[in-house]
Amino acid sequence: MSPKPIRKAVFPVAGLGTRFLPATKVVPKELLPVVDRPLIQYAVDEAREAGIEQMIFVTGRGKTGIVEHFDIAFELEQTMSERGKDLSVLECTRATPGDVIAVRQQVPLGLGHAIWCARAIVGDEPFAIFLPDELMVAREGGTGCMKQMVEAYNDVGGNLISVLEVPMEQVSSYGVIDPGKTDGALTEVLGLVEKPPVDEAPSNKIVSGRYILQPEVMRVLENQGKGAGGEIQLTDAMAKMIGQQPFHAVTFDGARYDCGSKVGFVEATLAIALSRPDMGADVRAIALDLLK
Ligand code: G1P
Repeated sequence: MSPKPIRKAVFPVAGLGTRFLPATKVVPKELLPVVDRPLIQYAVDEAREAGIEQMIFVTGRGKTGIVEHFDIAFELEQTMSERGKDLSVLECTRATPGDVIAVRQQVPLGLGHAIWCARAIVGDEPFAIFLPDELMVAREGGTGCMKQMVEAYNDVGGNLISVLEVPMEQVSSYGVIDPGKTDGALTEVLGLVEKPPVDEAPSNKIVSGRYILQPEVMRVLENQGKGAGGEIQLTDAMAKMIGQQPFHAVTFDGARYDCGSKVGFVEATLAIALSRPDMGADVRAIALDLLK
């Protein structure tokens, strides 16, 4: 029997984006463009490709622009139509009525708390989580990270997280897995630890911002105390599910950019610009010239 389908995705987007000030004083970080699409658009497109229908944004003060982005901009569209302009560029911002939902995280108590804020909308279904800072790009002709995870989920069920290997000295910035048996892209997860010191990390395989979780995690989060950094950590709640339910990691076959850092953001912008048929050649010529 195949497991229950993944129809809902939670996007924690309440963060203040202080690392990108002053750019993020008024504009939410998730709306900063990578070339010509806001960061959040890449995550929503990845979710749709994986068959996910309902997008749940966990927002906060000053972040309503994210929900606006997925609404119809009547005056804009009217004016564009009158001028005979092509509206297809806005296609990716359209949502099925009722399928974009915003809940608020009033106080920044951590990622685990942000996810818990969506519990009433998630209900009793398995669901996906996207951390939009992690920009996952499919290989040419390949599929996105969540689609690869959903395919694995259809085989093994339970809980899945995306992982990738980083140099050992970087592990203390991330959630880290204790890996068990590996079969192709799939690795059993025996343990999870959030932001461990380098010498205590069980591996260099880090949790890279995509999750498929069973709804029971919400019950665990309900009573989850503070962990690393004094925050309620999703990683700690997930760790408690290991042994109760299947738990696997998927190594994404594709590219990942950490847009939570400025250098990662520039890297993503360059990589995507270089891969675009409409501008790749020009950008390449400019980059080579700048490097001279
Ligand atoms: C969060 C998670 C961490 C994960 C990381 C991926 O950390 O808590 O487990 O590895 O995202 O980007 P944060 O970046 O919010 O500190």
